[in-house]
Order: sequence, then C-alpha cells, then structure tokens
Amino acid sequence: MRQTLRLTLLITLAGFALAAQAGGLETLLQRIERIQADPTALQAAIEAGEERTLLCQYCHGADGNSLKPEVPNLAAQNIGYLLQQIEHFSSGTREDYVMNQLAENFNAEDKVNVTLFYHHQALKPQTVPAELAARGRPLYQQLCRDCHGEDGHGSETLARLAGQRAEYVDLALRLFRDEAAGKAGLQRRNPLMAGVARRLDDEQIEAIAAYVAQMP
Ligand code: HEC
Ligand code: HEC
Repeated sequence: MRQTLRLTLLITLAGFALAAQAGGLETLLQRIERIQADPTALQAAIEAGEERTLLCQYCHGADGNSLKPEVPNLAAQNIGYLLQQIEHFSSGTREDYVMNQLAENFNAEDKVNVTLFYHHQALKPQTVPAELAARGRPLYQQLCRDCHGEDGHGSETLARLAGQRAEYVDLALRLFRDEAAGKAGLQRRNPLMAGVARRLDDEQIEAIAAYVAQMP
C-alpha cells in the first residue's frame, strides 16, 4: 500500500517535471512568435543573438556556416529544432562536452535571441560528388522524406537537413546507429532516428549524407 502511494507520488512528480519542461519550451516559442511579428523587435533580437554567439563562431562560423567537418551548420535551421537542441544541451539530455558547458550559461533571453539569429542566416551552397549524391537520392526519398520532408526542410520541430554538412550528417547517423546498437560513449538518443539508422550500412550513410548536403 505504502509502495503504491510512493509510486503514485513519483509518477505525479515526473509528470509535473515533464509538463514544466514542455511549458518552458512552449513559452519561449510563443515569445519567438511575437518577436517575429514585429520587425523592430526581430532586428534587435538578431543583433543581441549575434553578440551572444561570439564564442560559437570558432566552430559554427560567424554566420552559422560551420568551419569544421564534425560541426553542424546552424544557418537557416528551423526555429523549434534549434531551440529544442539548445535546451537539450543546457539540460544535458544531449551530450557534447563543449556544447553542454556553453549552453548551461544561457538564460531564456539568450536562447530566444541565438535561435532567431541563426534561423535568419543564409546557408552557403555545398559541392559534393554528384555520383554519390545520386545514389543517396532514392534512399532519402524512401527512408527520410516522411519526417524530414521531400525538400529536406524538416518542420517546425524537426531538423532541416537540406544544406547540412555531409560529414556532420554522416557522423550523426552513425551516432544514432551506435545508440540503437547499445554502444557505450557519447551518443545521441532518439528512438525514431535510432530505428531508421540501425537499417543503414556505411555506404548508404555516406550517399544519403552527400545527397542532403547538396539539397537547396
Ligand atoms: C568547440 C566547437 C563548438 C563551439 C565553440 C560551439 N559548438 Fe555548437 N556544436 C558543436 C558540435 C561538435 C556539435 C554537434 C554535437 C553532436 O554531434 O551531438 C554542436 C551542435 C550544436 C547545435 C545543434 C545543431 C544540430 O543540428 O543539431 C546547436 C544548436 C549549437 N551547437 C549551438 C551552439 C552555440 C549557440 C554555441 C555558442 C554558445 C556553440 N554551439 C558553440 C561544436 C561547437
Ligand atoms: C520517423 C521520423 C524520422 C525519420 C523517418 C527520419 N528522421 Fe531524422 N530525425 C527525426 C527526429 C525526431 C530527429 C531529432 C532528433 C533529436 O532531437 O535528437 C531527427 C534528426 C536527424 C538528424 C540530426 C539533425 C541535426 O541537425 O543534428 C539527422 C542527420 C537525421 N535526422 C537524418 C535522417 C535521415 C538521413 C533519415 C533517413 C535515412 C531520417 N533522418 C529519417 C525523425 C526522423
């Protein structure tokens, strides 16, 4: 009896914690929506965001076009996805040593401004081997488009893949696949992506990564 009570209490508390987290994200998204509707506020937020990204430039580039193979482009990334990932790094749900340290120091306003700054930057086009990309196309259309969209632009909360660095997409898919295989070490956890990635071999991953990188 006492155990049942304790269990009920635990479940209730966990429910509150989840609701609070979702509520936090929801509040920030509403704030972003209001800012987007007001050109002056948007300009100010983008400028504030740019100032807050000085430490990010070394890896993600001054305009969100990454300078290193293992680092994702953030330019033109979807708002909901950017915000959610910053939250995940800040809470430690997504693990990356540098990203965890940096995101920990962000307050709500920083998160909003940085998200808006990157979302409004333009992606630079990438060149990849055409033959490799052509092999990735049917795989993408068969396995990825239902969620990430025919044009690879994702959705409000789903990652944009179009124009993402091929090396990063390759690495991310391997991390999701490692997670599915239960390997130790730093991993990305997402049951949907783990389910997709576990069916891919290295060659398929390379081809899909090349295909999405050159998508406009
Ligand atoms: C030392 C290099 C480095 C610096 C500096 C850095 N990042 Fe990152 N960032 C990374 C790497 C590497 C990843 C990918 C981590 C992974 O594979 O899970 C990443 C991922 C991200 C993502 C998730 C993107 C996606 O497509 O999932 C966001 C958002 C992000 N960084 C924002 C920032 C911000 C904001 C700053 C500055 C406060 C910053 N980063 C500074 C290396 C860096
Ligand atoms: C059932 C839906 C679904 C399908 C199908 C799917 N994805 Fe995803 N994908 C997701 C979700 C959800 C995330 C966000 C994961 C997270 O929050 O860490 C994601 C994230 C990603 C990321 C990380 C993006 C970033 O910027 O870090 C990559 C890369 C990716 N997917 C590639 C693919 C590829 C390639 C395929 C096809 C082989 C695919 N996905 C199929 C749902 C899906």
